Amino acid sequence: MTETLLQQAGLEQGLPDHFEESAWVEVIQRMDAIYTDLVRYQIELEEKNAELERAYSELKQAHQALQDKQQQLIQSEKMASLGRLVAGVAHELNNPISFVFANMHALLGYEERFRRYLEAVHSHIALPEREALRQKLRIDRILQDIRPLLAGSMEGAERVSEIVKNLRQFSTPASQKPESFDIVALCQRTVMWLVRSAPHKPQIDLDCPEQLVIYNYEGYVSQVLVNLIQNALDAMDGIAKPLLSVKLWQEQDKLHLTVKDNGHGIKDVDLHKLFDPFFTTKPVGKGTGLGLYISYGLITEQCRGSLSAHNYYQNGDNGAVFKLSLPVNLV
Ligand SMILES: Nc1ncnc2c1ncn2[C@@H]1O[C@H](COP(=O)(O)OP(=O)(O)O)[C@@H](O)[C@H]1O
Ligand SMILES: [Mg+2]
Repeated sequence: MTETLLQQAGLEQGLPDHFEESAWVEVIQRMDAIYTDLVRYQIELEEKNAELERAYSELKQAHQALQDKQQQLIQSEKMASLGRLVAGVAHELNNPISFVFANMHALLGYEERFRRYLEAVHSHIALPEREALRQKLRIDRILQDIRPLLAGSMEGAERVSEIVKNLRQFSTPASQKPESFDIVALCQRTVMWLVRSAPHKPQIDLDCPEQLVIYNYEGYVSQVLVNLIQNALDAMDGIAKPLLSVKLWQEQDKLHLTVKDNGHGIKDVDLHKLFDPFFTTKPVGKGTGLGLYISYGLITEQCRGSLSAHNYYQNGDNGAVFKLSLPVNLV
């Protein structure tokens, strides 16, 4: 910069030997012009700076908005799979509740007949009449029926209470901090619930150790498992002998989990699109195309693991396998 200024003032060689007054005036004029230029440059620089700051703050806002959108996407995918699960659970609860209702209805009718019979007994009617009433109201039949009806209702109520208890355990933990949890138990609960709500129950092959405690994001891992298992169940829809195999094992500081199905598999042309947002081959209402995209993001960015997919062909059987790997200890 100094060099340029001296050059601009024509002074790069130093002061000439015979420097006259008129030359000084010229130098001062040039310096003046340079000063004016400098002020202009400074103003321009300040303007550029302000522009840059504005652009930076806009970028920051856009980044925040993008992060919020991503969070919303994760939430909406969770809601979509929860919606399907709730529909399945409602179906599951309907059965025991409906037989409790039917039993209660029968018991109410019995109570009415019992009351009539007891009133007759208490009013001391003659024995033959009483016997006739007993036959008519089918009191002996009622006495035989009451116990199984009560036992059935009891069983139904127990089923409902067991379903609700399990559902509570299954509900995704709200905390989005890493924590210690047993991934085997999480896996078993997820499989049990999703299979329960599946229209065609597959055979299940769970190959896991008794227990495997890892330190990672339980909520995220749970969301990913729900999606992988739901996808496997969807892929086996209409298959004659559906088989869902889930395998879990540890290798040094890594946990590996595979979800394998004998469904229709993934078309070769679709293999590289699986993890793209909104890629789905399912009808509206059944698929959002966000499950694998979000799962991939959660696993690679938050849980520091990996997620991959491929088809398999084995002993005349075929289908898809998804492999999830996670660090056993996130810190
Ligand atoms: N186990 C699987 N077998 C075959 N195709 C699968 C399997 N899992 C996922 N896919 C394919 O990947 C697509 C995207 O899956 P996903 O992102 O979970 O969205 P969605 O389940 O809402 O369609 C599915 O529509 C399906 O075509
Ligand atoms: Mg899915």
